[in-house]
Amino acid sequence: MIRRSVVLGCGGYLPKKIVTNDDLAKLVETSDEWIVKRTGIKARHIAGPDETTSEMALAAARAALADAKIEAKTVDLIVIATTTPDNTFPATAAKVQAKLGLERGFAFDVQAVCSGFVYALAVADNFIRLGQARTALVIGAETFSRLLDWNDRVTCVLFGDGAGALVLGVEEGRGDKSDRGILSTHLHSDGRYYDMLRTEGGPGTTGASGHVQMEGKEVFRHAVVRLAEVVDEALAANDMKPEEIDWLVPHQANQRIIDGTAKKLNMASERVVTTIAEHANTSAASIPLALAVAVKDGRIKRGQIVLLDAMGGGFTWGAALIRW
Ligand code: UT7
Repeated sequence: MIRRSVVLGCGGYLPKKIVTNDDLAKLVETSDEWIVKRTGIKARHIAGPDETTSEMALAAARAALADAKIEAKTVDLIVIATTTPDNTFPATAAKVQAKLGLERGFAFDVQAVCSGFVYALAVADNFIRLGQARTALVIGAETFSRLLDWNDRVTCVLFGDGAGALVLGVEEGRGDKSDRGILSTHLHSDGRYYDMLRTEGGPGTTGASGHVQMEGKEVFRHAVVRLAEVVDEALAANDMKPEEIDWLVPHQANQRIIDGTAKKLNMASERVVTTIAEHANTSAASIPLALAVAVKDGRIKRGQIVLLDAMGGGFTWGAALIRW
């Protein structure tokens, strides 16, 4: 028998304010037609002044705990994936820990930009499987809108804000793909591409958080190749065929990238969870937000196989295979 991290619940939070493509066309030279055709995005939620990363993370965490029907006090690990912490330090996870009324356990942030949620999930899974935590909150939370140059049409149309959370618990499994829980996680990075997707400056260089800059075409090209590789790696590690996957829940950066991965897996669009049209790219929050939507509407059910994949700045990329 081996220890497995199992999903006990999930939840999400989206800011109240919705900004459509037509709204953006009043700010910069763009059009609903261009944005929809190139990305699949129709609208995004944008955080108000009180909707900080920690507040949205807290709301998502509470929704996930309610879904899991467990009390916050049982949580002994909080990992938040975020590129937009409330403060440069301490970790936003520490703030969420306090806001949940917790006085024990440990909490920290993980930084892998758009791959952040898959990284955070892998980290929490390893702590649980080693017996160093029993109940974990894994959160992706972003106020990415605060990193955008709202005069730059190339980047400002792509991103949105929000938070999503999973509660993980521990169960015993046989050690094969029939187990419930996280079956495997696969992480990669290649720092040679550091400058392809980044902010200009940061706390340790310019003393400011900076704005997002991206070589869109290069990122796109790498995303298609790397995601295809890493989903293959996840399937091979579990001796699984693409047809055994019930749901693909990808990072939501571009509908064309998502379609590329689905095509590679020969998966019909009905088996792919997409939120990009309404949420845009919420960086580390996009996967848990998509999971929250598809669990709530009854698509993802207990016992089904769910494949997550993501690619982001660094470059970082990764995948996780879960039996829900
Ligand atoms: O989440 C992290 C990972 N991020 C990604 O995976 C993003 C990957 N990249 C992409 O999704 C795409 O590269 C973009 C959606 C960012 C851009 O799409 P593209 O098809 O690669 O367009 P492009 O950058 O080659 O731009 C084509 C044209 C350019 O005009 P010219 O040079 O052909 O005259 C741009 O100036 O579209 C223009 N353009 C726009 N036009 C209207 C760029 N942004 C806009 C805009 N509205 N918002």
